[in-house]
Order: sequence, then structure tokens, then C-alpha cells
Amino acid sequence: MTTDEIRERYLKFFEGKGHVRIEPAPLVLENDPTTLFTSAGMQPLIPYLKGEPHPKGKRLVDSQLSLRLQDIEEVGDNRHTTYFEMLGNWSLGDYFKKEQLEWCLEFFTKELGLPKEKLWVSVFEGTKEVSKDEESASRWKELGIPEDRIFFYGVDKNWWSRSGEPDKMPAGEIGGPDSETFFDFGTPHNPKYGKECHPNCQCGRFLEIGNSVFIQYQKNKDGTLSELPQKNVDFGGGLERISAVVDGLSDVFLIDVYTPVIKVLEKETGIKYGSSDGNTTSFRIIADHLRAAVAIASEGVEPSNRGQGYILRRLLRKAIVRYSRLTDKEIKDFLKSNSLDTIVEALGGAKVKELFQAEWDKFERTFCTAYPAIMKLATRENNIVSGEEAFELFESHGLLPDVQKEVLETRFGKRIDWDKFKELFEKHQEQSRTASAGMFKGGLADTSEEVTKLHTATHLLHAALRKVLGEHVSQKGSNITAERLRFDFSHPQKLTEEEIKKVEDLVNEQIKEDLPVSFETMSLDEAIKKGALHFFGEKYGKEVKVYTIDPSTRPARSGLAPFSREVCGGPHVSHIGELGRVRIIKQEKVGAGIVRIYATTGK
Ligand code: ALA
Repeated sequence: MTTDEIRERYLKFFEGKGHVRIEPAPLVLENDPTTLFTSAGMQPLIPYLKGEPHPKGKRLVDSQLSLRLQDIEEVGDNRHTTYFEMLGNWSLGDYFKKEQLEWCLEFFTKELGLPKEKLWVSVFEGTKEVSKDEESASRWKELGIPEDRIFFYGVDKNWWSRSGEPDKMPAGEIGGPDSETFFDFGTPHNPKYGKECHPNCQCGRFLEIGNSVFIQYQKNKDGTLSELPQKNVDFGGGLERISAVVDGLSDVFLIDVYTPVIKVLEKETGIKYGSSDGNTTSFRIIADHLRAAVAIASEGVEPSNRGQGYILRRLLRKAIVRYSRLTDKEIKDFLKSNSLDTIVEALGGAKVKELFQAEWDKFERTFCTAYPAIMKLATRENNIVSGEEAFELFESHGLLPDVQKEVLETRFGKRIDWDKFKELFEKHQEQSRTASAGMFKGGLADTSEEVTKLHTATHLLHAALRKVLGEHVSQKGSNITAERLRFDFSHPQKLTEEEIKKVEDLVNEQIKEDLPVSFETMSLDEAIKKGALHFFGEKYGKEVKVYTIDPSTRPARSGLAPFSREVCGGPHVSHIGELGRVRIIKQEKVGAGIVRIYATTGK
């Protein structure tokens, strides 16, 4: 059965049980500041799991592209990947344990034909606050799973929330006990992983293929748990893993999804997949990371040093280092060979090839510059690389920690003092955050001339939108690159052509006057009294800067109220005539009551 067929069978199976197929969320989340990528099918459903009615009803099913960065270090074994597809079905306060466990088993055994005797399960052993899940255990027995294949585990294994165990859940987070299903490959136990084998043993005998979470708790501010208004089911099953067990494969990288990449890698390197442990690990890392990178880039992310772009860069660079090892070429020579293109194409990434090419070029330059420094550390006698040395490679040479790990630790057997590195890294991040007009402030990519102009244009647009559409308009987010500004604001619907023109005209009229931009420092209270707009999502210090664009500074327009006044860290142009002409080039609705516009400045 192909992976595509399994997905379709799952969706149909649950449709047959009264579920409605829903559109999954994008992989790259733009408007959720708490997380960079969708990492579970339940993520877009949180309000509904908390009790809000879902427009499609109480039984939902989908297949969600997901990325889990916490697994990045595990990639290389037979089952871990960062990127995967998660089959999911939900009961929003409708059916519960009895039906879920029955349907889960029915899907695996009847629909996919897995032998029941190869399935083992785990259930929650309970804590002081939440009782042992006897109900699930006896349901599994009723369904024909014998007692010796039912294992009880604690919060570390059988409790699920996005942040893990109950103690780690922040206030407001939801979660609950879960029951996992494992496939038994019957391979002999490796005592390296403990005396006795059991479903959660890491020896490779068992593979977890599904997790039925009973989301019925919410964390309170005082650290306790309270029951949600409804008892929910949140099932998640890794499609790639399920596809592997259906084909009797204990290695997920052998399924159809990865075949094209593995084949290209074999052809390009002349090495057979599985021929040695070290090479197999490299094949898996390259296949997973490049597949993830293509998916991220296909949703519009570009490699950078921040947010999602930084993750993309890490995945790409780690894959490159691994690939160069396979070919036994030095990275700098390897990068010239272009053989990555064929893999990216095999992964369906023809559209992002150029983007990746530019990133290889950048990496090549970075690596060549850092090469003497890294080789000095790699070839010296001392096997320890201090945190300071690693940080120097990062800060002065731009060598990402993942790359250092690959080259110095995996390839040359050195050990890096990561604790010290982390300490220095965090200090550095703190400094960049607090530096005046630092890169993390106000959604600005940098403080170049272009970005500064666009930043001033954002203030003008914010003011003009309020004047044209009404005072309900307020900033919800902003992101500026050298090419364009992006501004999110509260408004129920997209603007009409006429409204866009009015906003643009109003802004451009001010620009024609070449009004000066001035700023004063005051307390936030004082700023609010003076009518300065401020963005609630931003944290302000005691003293704030207030930027004003004021027509009354022109004698002919004296007496007029300021056109724009905002609390902001800057920087801005000194006179708005520098902006040229502001144009709104695109708009879209990005959520309930939020409109996003893109605009440029220039001739
Ligand atoms: N949300 C659960 C998980 O991700 C199903 O494992």
C-alpha cells in the first residue's frame, strides 16, 4: 500500500464514523507568536478543544504536515524525523475512550491489515492528581489485547500536552493522559538499552504508530489542573511510520516517500544505503532535513538568521555537511559540485532550487572564511573545544552550532563545551535584543536606509488607515524587509480600491510637504495622554520614545493636529520627503478581523 493510499484510507475510515474532513493548517505559522511551525494536528484546534463550537461539528479528521525541532538530534536512527505528516481524528466533547480505542484498533487491523498480535499498548499509571487509566486498560482487554501487552507508564511517557508533562505546562495549556499503540517487529532485545524490553524501549523492536490523547485538563495559574468543560479525544499517528509497518519495514526511510532521495544519493555518491552505520545515519539526516527544508521554503520562508528562516538555514547547512562527508569531499569543494540540486528536485522542490543555490553560495563563502580557524581546532592535539572558541567561530565566522557539531565533534572527534557556549550565546542574544534599535525590535530586519524609510512609511500608513477607515484600526503586527513593509491591523474586511486610493493619497500628500519626523522621550503614561498610538504586543521600558510627524511645523499648516504620533524605538528618516511615493501593493485577510497590507516606497 502506498503512503498516499494509507492517508486516504484513514480519512475515509473516519468519515465513515461520522467525522468531517477539515483543511489542515499551513506548516509555517505566521500569526502565532508562540511557535514557529505546526507541530501537531491539534494545534489549530485548540480553541475548539477548550469548548468553542467548531463550524464543522464535533468529529473531525485531517492529515497535518508537522515539524518537530525537538527531535532534530534524534534524526539518524530508524524512526525519528523532524518533518512528518500526522494523521489526526478528534472528538470535541463527543465520543471518548470506548469508541476511540476501538476505532484505532479497527483501523490498524481491519483497514490496514496489521496482525493484532503484533500490537502492544501503553496507558497512564496515574499521579496524585489524575487517576490511573483503568478504563483504557480494560477497554484494550475487551478489544482483545492481552494484559501482558498492556503497559502502564507515568507522566514522562503517557501524558501529552504541547509542552510535555503537567509540571511543564504553562497556565492555560491543555492536555491529558494518553494511550499509545506500538508495532512489535519481534527483533531480539539489545541489552544496551536496559535489562528488559518493553514498548518504550529504544532498542528498535517496537515502533510507536499512534497516540490517543484524552484532552480533558487545563493548567491553572496556581499550578493545579482543572477539568475542561468537555472531554476530548486527540489522536495523532505518524503517517510515515504507519506506512513503514504496513510494508513490514522497521526503517521509515525505506518507504516510498524517501525512495527518490535515497536513490539520487546512492547514484551521486556511489554508496549503497545501509552499507555502514555512519553512512546510513548521514543518508537519513540528509533525506529528512532536505525534505523539511523544501516544505518550509515552499511556504515562502527564506533562509535567514531569525525565526523560521534560521531553522531553514540550520537544516540546509546540516544536510550539506553530512552530504560532503558521504562524498568524502571537503565542504568547500563539495559545494561547488551542485549535486544537491538533483536531490532538491527529487523532493519536489524545483521551485525553491534557486533559493537554495543562493544559500549554498553564502555557506560556501562563510565556510571558506572560517576554514583556517576551524581546521586549527580540528587538527590540534587538545580534544576539547572551549565554549569561548566555539562562540568565536559562531560570532566572528558565522559558523552555526549545528555545523560545528558536525565538523568538530562528529568528523574530528572533538568535544565542544556546549554549556559555556549556551551561556555566551544567551548573553549575546540578550544584548542584541536590548541594543537601541536592535534587530529584534519592532519587527525590523535591520536598520538600513531602505528599512528605515519603510518603517516611517508604516507610521504614515497606520495614521492614514485610521483616518480613512476609523479609529478601530490598530496595529496587530509589522514586518519590514529592505524590499517592502508588511503591516497587520484590525479591520473586518479587505479595503475597497477606493479606500486604498484614499489611504495612499493621504500619505503621499504628507510626503509632498516633506514634513519633519521628530521624537521626544517621556513616560508611557504621558505618551498615552498625548494621544500616541502604541502597540500592545510590544513591551516598553519606563521611558519611551514618541515619534511625531507634524504638519504644524510648516507655517502654512500651523494649528493642525499631528498627522502621526506613535510610541516607537525608531529609527526613522528625518524628513518624509525622502520616502518618494508610498504604494500599497497587496492586501490579504489573515485572520478573523485582521487585514494585512504590503507596501513599498520609491519613485
Ligand atoms: N497531539 C498528539 C501528539 O502529537 C496526538 O502526539
